[in-house]
Amino acid sequence: MNPRLSRRRFIKAVIASSAAAATNAGVHAAMAQNRPQGTVERLISLNVNGKTRRVDVMPQETLAYTLRYKLGLTGTKIGCNRGECGACTVIIDGVTNYSCSTLTHSVGSRQLQTIEGVAGADGTLHPVQQAFIQELAPQCGFCTPGQVMSAVALLNENPHPSREEVRQALSGNLCRCGAYDNYLNGVMRAAENG
Ligand code: FES
Ligand code: FES
Repeated sequence: MNPRLSRRRFIKAVIASSAAAATNAGVHAAMAQNRPQGTVERLISLNVNGKTRRVDVMPQETLAYTLRYKLGLTGTKIGCNRGECGACTVIIDGVTNYSCSTLTHSVGSRQLQTIEGVAGADGTLHPVQQAFIQELAPQCGFCTPGQVMSAVALLNENPHPSREEVRQALSGNLCRCGAYDNYLNGVMRAAENG
């Protein structure tokens, strides 16, 4: 092969790849400049169970997704994923929320409690968890974390509820096993024990 020809080909290839790289850089710079105003910062801090957790969150990401798949807090269950079953219930600033219907970016600096943060630091079960065991409330157990969170939020606000008040407080938590009375009995027992 003619060495001059081969050298010319090499230089052409280098110039072509440089041009491509320059074009890519230009595209990325243009995209950054064109990013719409008001887009969210993806790396945020969440206050989860008393700890600050830094996490990269997409703009439309739900809290249930962030908890389970970014923070490894899989105690929060996803059942319907559309605000109907209560399996994903968490407590935000003392109020129960369906985490499948809550955008993570909307949580901000509020205090977030999940099922993992209900027991004591030494592993002592919360009175609601203890009472649910004593009443054999969970059947398959899938709805149980959500039931616990609703019961904990209720007893924080109202330590001695009537049975009807408990029924109301747990009305957003469906149980496909039909163990409703067991859960009601459990909350009443926790209220007595507490
Ligand atoms: S998974 Fe959130 S309400 Fe059903
Ligand atoms: S215990 Fe099975 S869904 Fe409630």
